[in-house]
Amino acid sequence: TESLTVAELAKKLYREPSEIIKKLFLLGVMATINQSLDKDAIELIAGEYGVEVEEEIKIDITDLENYFVEEEGANLVERPAVVTIIGHVDHGKTTLLDSIRNTKVTSGEAGGITQHIGAYQVVEKDKKITFLDTPGHAAFTTMRARGARITDITILVVAADDGVKPQTVEAISHAKAAEVPIIVAVNKMDKEAANPERVMQELTEHGLVSEAWGGETIFVPISALKGEGIDTLLEMILLVAEVEEYKANPKRNAVGTVIEAQLDKGRGSVATLLVQNGTLKIGDPIVVGNTFGRVRAMVNDLGRRVKEAGPSTPVEVTGLSDVPQAGDRFVVLNDEKTARQVGESRAQQAVLAQRGEKSRVTLETLFEQM
Ligand code: GTP
Ligand code: MG
Repeated sequence: TESLTVAELAKKLYREPSEIIKKLFLLGVMATINQSLDKDAIELIAGEYGVEVEEEIKIDITDLENYFVEEEGANLVERPAVVTIIGHVDHGKTTLLDSIRNTKVTSGEAGGITQHIGAYQVVEKDKKITFLDTPGHAAFTTMRARGARITDITILVVAADDGVKPQTVEAISHAKAAEVPIIVAVNKMDKEAANPERVMQELTEHGLVSEAWGGETIFVPISALKGEGIDTLLEMILLVAEVEEYKANPKRNAVGTVIEAQLDKGRGSVATLLVQNGTLKIGDPIVVGNTFGRVRAMVNDLGRRVKEAGPSTPVEVTGLSDVPQAGDRFVVLNDEKTARQVGESRAQQAVLAQRGEKSRVTLETLFEQM
């Protein structure tokens, strides 16, 4: 590694060239994208990312988290919020998910058959919102285990006739630990015994104070069963999204997380992926958990074939060599050979780890092929 251009170095570090240029600028070096960098400059920049340069730049490219890079700059555009639903047993989580889907997904989508792929998108006021059809607590557990953010906002469902229950409290602590904003949906308002004030009172004790009472938490009274208050709830999600400004770069290689996966008799391995950054395209060489492949076909939440899927989009993918697990990360690499090598290394590491042996796989050589 005697010299590299800014663009080449950026690629090796999985960063945007603009980010490298900015870093150089802050170090007092004015550089353009095609400029050659000497060994010292390369070491300096690599060091900024905690990467040591010896003979080669060494990043463990089998660690998929390395591909989840925070970005800044001009390529960032608004992306839909990703929302999960949490709450006590029987308080109406599933009914709410169904209600949102039924009132929103099918309208204006004539001919579209809503398919169950573990996640779906709705459009409210010309903006998309992505709902994960997985129990919120599962999403949080995955997030905690991997230090990764999957959901942006969580809806805490509390039945107005039942109030705060143990699992409500548990759900709140998960969401707080994950630092995910909470919107409270006070459900079952159609019931005679509904007592929203009690819910507000009880939640105050857990740090969720309604705006109406001078706090900062949004409360929305709803009836998931009757489809009442759903629009207001969606508007409140958009409000939070506007404040939080969720952004992504649709121009980069896709990265994201497996929502669910199974073996299908006809189609082989079928995985629902949530694209979290970048754009996933047909033909992309991909590593998914400990498996790999090439994206053969993609189907969206309406059961339609699509050629690409941008940030915050859930999509069902075929073409993987094996079945990954929910919560696994996926990354798109530049060529199929590398995807295969990374996938196979990861599978091998997983086997070794399971046997309790320490995995020692050297990967520097892989960089030669990137
Ligand atoms: P688990 O998945 O078991 O934790 O339950 P859940 O939170 O998904 O609740 P679910 O949506 O299955 O609803 C439980 C029961 O409450 C069902 O019988 C629903 O029909 C009923 N229910 C849900 N929402 C409402 C509502 O707004 N009003 C009334 N009256 N009943 C509701
Ligand atoms: Mg349910």
